[in-house]
Amino acid sequence: MLVSSALLWLGAAAGSLAASWIVPGTVWKDTSGNTIDAHGGMVYLRGTTYYWIGQSASNAETPYMYKSTDLLNWTPLGAQASIQYMWRPKIAKPNGSFWIYGQVNRLVQPLVSTQMEGGYATKGAAVNVPPNSLTYSDTGMFQDPGDGAWYLLTSADHNTIQVNLIGSDGTLGARKNYITSGAYEAPGMFKVGTTYFIIVSAKTGWRSNPNKMFWADGISGSFNGPYDIAPEAENTYNSQNTFELTITGSQATTYIYMGDSWDSTGGPSSTYIWLPMAVSTSAHTVTLQYHAMWKVDTTTGVVSVPSSKKRYEAEDAVITGRAAVTECNDCISKRSVHQIDSGSQVTFNNITGTGEPQWISLHYTVSNVTAGEAHIFVNDQLVPTNISDMNSRAGCHKTVPVELVLKADDSNTIKFGAVGSEDFEIHFDGIEIFEDA
Ligand SMILES: *[C@@H]1O[C@H](CO)[C@@H](O)[C@H](O)[C@H]1NC(C)=O
Ligand SMILES: *[C@@H]1O[C@H](CO)[C@@H](O)[C@H](O)[C@H]1NC(C)=O
Ligand SMILES: *[C@@H]1O[C@H](CO)[C@@H](O)[C@H](O)[C@H]1NC(C)=O
Ligand SMILES: *[C@@H]1O[C@H](CO)[C@@H](O)[C@H](O)[C@H]1NC(C)=O
Repeated sequence: MLVSSALLWLGAAAGSLAASWIVPGTVWKDTSGNTIDAHGGMVYLRGTTYYWIGQSASNAETPYMYKSTDLLNWTPLGAQASIQYMWRPKIAKPNGSFWIYGQVNRLVQPLVSTQMEGGYATKGAAVNVPPNSLTYSDTGMFQDPGDGAWYLLTSADHNTIQVNLIGSDGTLGARKNYITSGAYEAPGMFKVGTTYFIIVSAKTGWRSNPNKMFWADGISGSFNGPYDIAPEAENTYNSQNTFELTITGSQATTYIYMGDSWDSTGGPSSTYIWLPMAVSTSAHTVTLQYHAMWKVDTTTGVVSVPSSKKRYEAEDAVITGRAAVTECNDCISKRSVHQIDSGSQVTFNNITGTGEPQWISLHYTVSNVTAGEAHIFVNDQLVPTNISDMNSRAGCHKTVPVELVLKADDSNTIKFGAVGSEDFEIHFDGIEIFEDA
């Protein structure tokens, strides 16, 4: 019994099953079952195939590539070049060749290949970008859907977001625009109608901050901003911008924010936050639409979220130890369980499962993200997802998604608890189980 359950867990944990949702902030696996390692990247559409390129956090910031037709299941294509310590690699196709531009030694390094997949070699030395001999960091990429022109985005002197035209020979040409106010990095750009929107991050190292939007009429029009794209307290749902992807479907055009949820060092446990954006060209607003899980149909462009969700309130569960029911103004039922510590547990009985991997959302906040760990047992087995890896997400937007396997009946037990230092406490609102996820 134990062995078969363990195998079931491994199956889910290794991601050997097809991914059916984009679940921001969780560990995303490729089609071989390995963690997707493409940070600070972008997604480029060629035909009906999306190519995701980013820096490998486990292999010395070498550019890694993946491909997918549904933005859910990503086939690994491995290292694209032998270069190391290239940050935020981006792809462009200004002529018949394929180009990667990334930040190396605080300058922009071009790589070129005759093919999309693999074979990228350095094209000259790393360069600074017209018009100034400054240092340049945080490469971003934008292709104008109007005339197909490619633009490299950078943070010049690590402060001034700059937009440069990429010439048809791949060289970095004239500066077309820049943001003179403030100090920003991690730029991404997209165009809706005739309005150019640029999303940028403030400069707080690996810690997330409220990313901002500027807009301009025309590629060289003056930028207006900064404006919020999410409630400031959410710190862009604990992420930093890297790219904006437009899906032009048969029924809808969907704009996607792609961000990195960095760990404390920009290391391999960093994850990804992708969210659809609501955009108004008349009000000049861009708003991230937070969903615990969602997907976009790459043919129609339509965004969907799980339709059947069952909620279980913590205050209705079996509560042991020091934990107690309290009033909670921000909670859906206005009540929750607080003071969950190493000696306290909240147990939900009689939970209905499907026997297949299912997503559940845990809604909790912690008193101190580094002082302890939250954990769950399902039918008395510890779930091997270390949910404390996501403690920093707990409470940010009130959801920590975990994929697990329940028995295909209504006799499942989920026990929520904590380990940690004396002052570590969890405030627990409830769980939501997605039946079609
Ligand atoms: C693109 O431009 C580069 C630089 O001039 C050149 O080496 C390359 O051959 C061009 N690619 C094609 C397919 O013309
Ligand atoms: C509910 O759970 C309890 C404890 O596991 C069990 O004894 C009981 O049979 C369950 N009831 C139903 C309706 O499944
Ligand atoms: C959080 O916990 C860590 C580790 O126990 C401790 O070093 C730190 O001082 C705590 N922070 C606060 C704000 O209490
Ligand atoms: C869970 O993650 C935390 C934070 O990354 C780490 O300190 C802890 O050792 C991990 N626990 C297990 C059992 O892997």
